[in-house]
Amino acid sequence: MEQPLIIPPSIAPATEVLSILEVARRAQKNPLSIIPKIAYEQPIVTGKTVIKWHMVMDPGALKRIFLENVENYPKSNVTLRLLKPAVGESLFTSEGKHWRWQRRATAPAFQHRNVVALAPMMTDSAQATCKRLEAVADRPGVTNIDEEMTTATFDVVCDALLSGRDALNRDELIDALARYLMTVGKLSLMDVLGLPNWIPRPAQIFSRGSIRDTQKMMDGVIAKRRAKIAAGAEASNDLLNLILEAEDPKSGRRMSDAEVRDNLLTFVIAGHETTALTLGWALYLIAAHPPTQERLAEEVAQVLNGRAATGDDFDALPFTRQVVEETLRLYPPAGFLSRNAKSADRLADRDIAAGDTVMLPIYTLHRNKLLWERPDVFDPDNFTIEKVKERDRFAYLPFGQGPRICIGMNFALMEAVIILATVVSRFRFAVEKGFVAKPELTLTLRSANGLRLQVERRGSAF
Ligand code: HEM
Repeated sequence: MEQPLIIPPSIAPATEVLSILEVARRAQKNPLSIIPKIAYEQPIVTGKTVIKWHMVMDPGALKRIFLENVENYPKSNVTLRLLKPAVGESLFTSEGKHWRWQRRATAPAFQHRNVVALAPMMTDSAQATCKRLEAVADRPGVTNIDEEMTTATFDVVCDALLSGRDALNRDELIDALARYLMTVGKLSLMDVLGLPNWIPRPAQIFSRGSIRDTQKMMDGVIAKRRAKIAAGAEASNDLLNLILEAEDPKSGRRMSDAEVRDNLLTFVIAGHETTALTLGWALYLIAAHPPTQERLAEEVAQVLNGRAATGDDFDALPFTRQVVEETLRLYPPAGFLSRNAKSADRLADRDIAAGDTVMLPIYTLHRNKLLWERPDVFDPDNFTIEKVKERDRFAYLPFGQGPRICIGMNFALMEAVIILATVVSRFRFAVEKGFVAKPELTLTLRSANGLRLQVERRGSAF
């Protein structure tokens, strides 16, 4: 008999009105736990802590924010204030003209053709991941799959950006970034809510020292590359090269070394952790629901026949992609975005005043009862072609939308499908006995206690 679908762990919403102190206490532990239950049932929720805020889950209103009236909703100044010390005025953090030319300059690197050209690096990393998992399967049998996936995606980002992994110290950087995301994320939510400064903030962040260390690492990479170019070496076909050569078509301006470094760091931060989380959660979900895992393994076995997945397999793996998309619905890595309204507007029949904070809780949107039939159930068939066509495009926003949509979306989807397909073709996964993941939102949505999976070989070797 078919095993019923499962309801994987979620974050319990707040069911009562919270005092500022209680909001602060919860926000420090797990910011998504302050989102009220009604946000999962209604299109918009308005409240006031110190500032007035709106949580928007209505697809029409989201379309207005991301697309139709996008000029009125710049990224919230709090988020920017927290990110800028690390990544300056880069693609992610800039607005207006400065954003536009950087987007124009870097967009070609992420066009479909170029992403396909980068796919062999993803295949390499998938194969290296299988080697590591073989060692796990042969010995203890259990691993934190989120850490394995972080290694996998970090290797891809280094190859694609910098043509190699030697340029950076992987462990040092991963560690520094994880601490940064964790602390900045918690801080930012408290500030988005306008909580007064006397409420103690969690850990006094990613010290200026660590920011400087990471920036130094990047500066070293850039100096080495400039020296290579000056010595007449052939240009590498990677993103660093593209950024170094990027030119504003209007002014002919190129990026300064500091701007190159800020963008590199942005791509490293935005480009590896999000995809690692997607893969980790996807493996956790299929491990928790064996029928889905076997359906996936069947598709993969048919298409790959024992070899590793490549960019050319992408279109032949629709169910693998559905699993990735459903994972991004239940555990969107960027689970909470925010904006400030520049001038008055109306969203979902509600008046928005200039200066109001507009929260875009993507996690809650993806589990809103008005938009999803069984919001908390893991069901990759939510993403069949027919289902996707029926649904409002703005009901599902793991990558944002409009002009600021994630520039790395195609890169991330390609990478997730290649790695997931390859790994599932070689191994069977089960959740470690007694283990239950604890979803927690910092700046990204991770599991506070890791993702403990048992790994078993499926048989055939590459
Ligand atoms: C599953 C993986 C990923 C997810 C869920 C994700 C999510 C997002 C979201 C939601 C935004 C929009 C933020 C906003 O509107 O406030 C964004 C922007 C961005 N992402 Fe991603 N991302 C992923 C992978 C990547 C990768 C692989 C790269 C680069 C290699 C990347 C680079 C960026 C950059 C540079 C921006 C800013 C774009 C702009 O403002 O013009 N992301 N991402």
